[in-house]
Amino acid sequence: MTLRVTVMTIFPQMIEQYLTSSLLARARERELLTVDVVDLRAYTDDPRRSIDDAPYGGGPGMLMMPEPVLRVLAEEPRIVQPVIGLSPIGSTFSQADAEELSTLEGFTLICGRYEGFDARIEQRCDRLLSIGDFVLAGGELAALVVVEATARLLAGVLGNEESPREESFASDRLLEYPQYTRPRVIDGREVPQVLLSGDHAEIARWRHSQRLVRTLELRPDLIQARGGISAEEVELLH
Ligand code: ADE
Repeated sequence: MTLRVTVMTIFPQMIEQYLTSSLLARARERELLTVDVVDLRAYTDDPRRSIDDAPYGGGPGMLMMPEPVLRVLAEEPRIVQPVIGLSPIGSTFSQADAEELSTLEGFTLICGRYEGFDARIEQRCDRLLSIGDFVLAGGELAALVVVEATARLLAGVLGNEESPREESFASDRLLEYPQYTRPRVIDGREVPQVLLSGDHAEIARWRHSQRLVRTLELRPDLIQARGGISAEEVELLH
C-alpha cells in the first residue's frame, strides 16, 4: 500500500529538495510513499501573489490569509484526509502519532508562514500538530519531520523490518540501548564484554537494563509516563 501525502506550502522547493534525501527517495522509488507538493501561491488572485495580510485588531507581523488554503482544500483533487495544520499551538508530535499516521491511506499537511494562520484555516483542519515548544519561521521543517518520522515506519522503507520496533519511544516507551560496532577498542574504550559473549538471552537482559538506566538518567519523565518500573525490571537493575 502507498501512503499518499500532500503538502501545502509557499516554499515547494524546500519540500522537494528534501525528498531527494535517501530514505524518502527510496520510499518513493518503491512506491511506498507519494508526496504531492501544492504551491499555495498558485492559488491567489493577487497580482503580487502575496498570501499574507495584517491581523484585524492590530498587532505585529502578518498572517497567512485564508483564501488560498481554503481554495486548495475545495478544488485540489490531491487533497487527502485528514487535513493537518502545522503550528506551535498544535499537540506535540510523538512517535505514537507517527505510528498512527503510518497506518492511514494518507494525509495533507498545511505549512504556515509569517506570524501564524488566520483562525479559519485552523478551524478547517482536522488536527493541529507542533513539533515542539519553539517557534519556527514556518511549517516546512515541521512537515518534513512528520513525513520522515512516518515514512520510515512503512513496511519496506528501512532495509531491516525489525528496526523500527526496538528503538527509542517504541511501545514500551524506553530509550534505545547503547550500540557498538567495530573496532572492539577505541581510545581505550571497549565494547561491553556481554555483547561478545554470544549469549543471546544475556544480551537481551543487558540491553533492557541499559534502556532502563539510560531512560532513568536522561528522560525520567518517560519512566513516569509509563507508570514506573516493574518488579522484574528492578531485578534487572541489580
Ligand atoms: N510552525 C512554526 N513553529 C512550529 C512548530 N513548533 N511546530 C509546527 N509548526 C510550526
